[in-house]
Amino acid sequence: MEKETARSRADELKKIIADSDYLYYVKDAPEIEDHEYDALLRELAAIETEYPELLTPDSPNARVRGEPGGEFARVTHSAPMQSLDNALGVAELRSFRERAAKALGEEPEWMCEPKLDGLAVSLIYRDGALETAATRGDGTVGEDVTRNIRTIRSLPLRLKDAPNGVVEVRGEVCMSREDFAELNRTREEEDKPLFANPRNAAAGSLRQLDVRVTASRRLKIYLYHTLGAENLGVKTQKELLEWLASRGLPTQESSRLCASMSDVEQYLDEWGGKRFTNSINTDGVVMKLNDLSLRETLGSTAKAPRWAIAFKYPPEEKRTRVIDIIVSVGRTGALTPTAQLEPVSLSGTTVQRASLHNQDEIDRKDIRVGDMVCAHKAGEIIPEVLRVDTDARDGSQTPYKIPPVCPVCGADAVKLPGEAAIRCPNKSCPAQLQEEILHFVSRQCMDINGIGEKLIAQLTERGIIKSAADIYAMSENDLAELDRMGEKSARNITEAIEASKSRPLSAVINALGIRNVGKKTALDIARRFGGMDAFINASEGELAVIDGVGETVAASVRAFFGDERNRETVERLKSAGVNMSEPDTFYESSAEFAGRKFVFTGELSLMTREEAQKKAESLGAKISSSVSKKTDVVVAGANAGSKYSKAVELGIEIWDEAKFIDSAGSTGKGR
Ligand code: IVH
Repeated sequence: MEKETARSRADELKKIIADSDYLYYVKDAPEIEDHEYDALLRELAAIETEYPELLTPDSPNARVRGEPGGEFARVTHSAPMQSLDNALGVAELRSFRERAAKALGEEPEWMCEPKLDGLAVSLIYRDGALETAATRGDGTVGEDVTRNIRTIRSLPLRLKDAPNGVVEVRGEVCMSREDFAELNRTREEEDKPLFANPRNAAAGSLRQLDVRVTASRRLKIYLYHTLGAENLGVKTQKELLEWLASRGLPTQESSRLCASMSDVEQYLDEWGGKRFTNSINTDGVVMKLNDLSLRETLGSTAKAPRWAIAFKYPPEEKRTRVIDIIVSVGRTGALTPTAQLEPVSLSGTTVQRASLHNQDEIDRKDIRVGDMVCAHKAGEIIPEVLRVDTDARDGSQTPYKIPPVCPVCGADAVKLPGEAAIRCPNKSCPAQLQEEILHFVSRQCMDINGIGEKLIAQLTERGIIKSAADIYAMSENDLAELDRMGEKSARNITEAIEASKSRPLSAVINALGIRNVGKKTALDIARRFGGMDAFINASEGELAVIDGVGETVAASVRAFFGDERNRETVERLKSAGVNMSEPDTFYESSAEFAGRKFVFTGELSLMTREEAQKKAESLGAKISSSVSKKTDVVVAGANAGSKYSKAVELGIEIWDEAKFIDSAGSTGKGR
């Protein structure tokens, strides 16, 4: 392709991709299919490989780039990032409005916006392109988090209808309640400290030296402020929010223009009820003078503007009673104590249970059965006992110790060094077995419809199922003889079991319930090894090559297959005819690598060159450092130089990073 043709096609592709990112991430209304989108990305990457100078910072292929750095550079804000004064009740809000109205000599309009519970950032766009992003820091000097911010997919790297010169916009980086809960679930499983709320999780995720970690945390951003609005032709906050949205920047849509104080109070009431259905936590409402020119009249104190105030909703904390503490046994044998609470309405739902995690937590908070406690939802989502009202004790409360035996099978519980949890070590514990089977048949594993909790309880109690492999040994008659089981259901279940035999290897690996191996890791493993035997026999070194598989995962895998029973289960699944291979990708891709000579050149954006080489090697490729006639494939990243030209000269097959990732079967960055 001629360079000029390439340039204009690349510009066109960047625009189409940015538009579809906007529809997908901001509007939640995609108009093209994922595979069409992927094809556009690949086409652009191919052009950028041919003309590395076209891989500009506004390319979607440049969102996640570079090696982890040493530390964040300091950035001095062009104007201080102020904070807001708080109003802790409607009375304080009214007196704020009175002061403002008096100083202005008129009754102004107010813009009310949700107060997003995230961390403030300031972004600089120059001639439409995102140039710098900084955290608030102390308000004067923040940290340069440009590389991290660029991974937020809803944020445009280039503004629509870009104005010339500098535009500085400010807003909030947040994590959704659901992503926060999911992140903490994984962290608990991995024995890592939990984040207290979505704001801490967002801050911890943004301030990562390895931007791939930031990219994996699915952060969101919403903009609500700009410097020098008058240069943009906007006169009010309402127009400003519209301007930001029209340039493709995400804004919170629940803002409202209020003509009077009673409108403001109505908004506070309404949002107070609705805010828990918003996926982003909001802890209040910011009330801002709508007319930007009037803001100057009111000015600022050293710390905060006089034209805005943050109304804070009282924290959702309620008193309730701990009726009981119940221990449940998880799939991995962990004994988890859960407080049974007198039902209490909290942040939008009725709460009756709160996990107490482990004995240390119970002791630290001194929670006793019968205690009156203060409960809330961490991050407005995870029920939690905050503290005990010790004054309310009357002597009837009883301290609690997790029994040193498994509540289900009676085995002596053990505490492994370095772990907070007490575990039931009995691999045949019915509770663990039931959880195991429930996991095995679940949607994202073998997806066997019709086998639910109650049926599993019957099957395990009657000894029909002692391991997941027994599912495939049951006959339709075995099923038909169970309580509340008609012939038709028995047939349906048998058919569902039969159908599950053709699930891909990744589903089988996930179904095995190996600790620390979830859906994503199972898929990476299946794509890497292609077959179950190769996986079982893999060395820790071979495992470690896989994305996201560190020592912990490798050790869990080894421990799992070190257990005779687990190997037997796998053998029995195999003889029952359960598929043990991963379709498509592996077989196609391995042929592209096996025995072929690869040379890597240029910078890759999603992995280091070492990682890419290891991956290619693990798929059977031979790596060499120089290009010759014997070279089969040259993988060229950005800024590839002489090796690239030589490959062109010799007519050697050239892959860009996207093609490499595709062939190597990695999931890449995905959408
Ligand atoms: S306006 C000059 N609007 O709340 C004032 N701030 O407690 C600029 N915040 O530092 C801030 N949502 O990080 C504004 N809709 C909103 C907001 C908001 C959240 C944060 C912001 C600010 C803090 C003050």
